[in-house]
Amino acid sequence: MKKHLTLENGPLLEVKNLCKSYPVARKGLFGSRRMTVLRDVSLSLGFGEVLGLVGESGSGKSTIGRTILNLAKADTGSVRFDGNELVGADAGTLRRLRKDMQIIFQDPYASLDPRKSVRATLSEALDTHGLHTGAAREPRLRELLNLVGLSPDFLDRKPHQFSGGQRQRIGIARALAVEPRFIVADEAVSALDVSIQAQILNLIADLREKTGVSLLFISHDLSVVRFISDRVVVLYLGRVMESGPADAVHFSPGHPYTAALVSAEPSLHHQKTRVALSGEIPSPLSPPSGCVFRTRCPFALPGCADKVPELREFSPGRWKACIRDDISEGRP
Ligand SMILES: Nc1ncnc2c1ncn2[C@@H]1O[C@H](COP(=O)(O)OP(=O)(O)OP(=O)(O)O)[C@@H](O)[C@H]1O
Ligand code: SF4
Ligand SMILES: [Mg+2]
Repeated sequence: MKKHLTLENGPLLEVKNLCKSYPVARKGLFGSRRMTVLRDVSLSLGFGEVLGLVGESGSGKSTIGRTILNLAKADTGSVRFDGNELVGADAGTLRRLRKDMQIIFQDPYASLDPRKSVRATLSEALDTHGLHTGAAREPRLRELLNLVGLSPDFLDRKPHQFSGGQRQRIGIARALAVEPRFIVADEAVSALDVSIQAQILNLIADLREKTGVSLLFISHDLSVVRFISDRVVVLYLGRVMESGPADAVHFSPGHPYTAALVSAEPSLHHQKTRVALSGEIPSPLSPPSGCVFRTRCPFALPGCADKVPELREFSPGRWKACIRDDISEGRP
């Protein structure tokens, strides 16, 4: 697959020091306390770039996507989209940018209304923004199905008449219908069989080429993320552990956590990178002090408990949050 480069045209999206917490009820007590699920997350996405976001379940990936799209409200921090600040933005600004920012969901079964035909689903998206009205509607609907590799003859079918992969194609057509500049794809292939996953990944890669749309591609599977992404951000317990070009992060991980994710992949390519990931991710209610990964890190030193490691550029374009300089590819 052709790889584009990254931030060379400037950032379309810039997230800085994003923090997000949710209220949690206290057992047997009145009131609630807050659980911080994103801590100082910063990332950027270039025009036409695909940025992968990877991490175990509960690491905060969907929360980042939802906060960027304003489906969840940030506590503090900044989300700038094409120069517009979205955190605390007024309703008018958000409405104006809504067309530009779309989402593809994980579950193609749940995300489509079973009562609505493909025509109705896609028309609804177009109507929301007053696009392709009147005589321009039918050609646009047919064009959208062609774009995602489905026959325009399927326009009057309902979701139950499609396979899982076909439904996800409809979900993608719905996201693309309004010609967005940015799409969050949240576990967009995770619910699909492996062979279908590859088809949908190829379709998304193809559509990126054709439309120039930028994507935040979220998955718990680093090999899937690497396939589709230009750069990758690795998240653990709401903090960024590593970021850099997708192939470099995958084939020579800089952070022990990334190395552990690579080791967990069922592949023979990574014999040299063996970092066993034991135990569960700790609760965001009581994260470890210092480096949040230290309770599972085989290379932890006593100093790792003292302070949160800063994200630092350890080689050009590659960043990691680890105090140790002597670890690469999961080895000291
Ligand atoms: N609306 C909510 N209210 C309370 N807690 C929430 C809410 N949404 C998410 N959380 C919590 O925030 C943390 C991060 O969740 P999030 O869904 O962002 O993780 P994720 O990385 O997307 O996980 P997965 O891979 O399972 O989708 C989890 O501990 C989750 O339980
Ligand atoms: S800072 Fe310490 S605990 Fe954290 S990843 Fe690096 S070596 Fe492991
Ligand atoms: Mg999620």
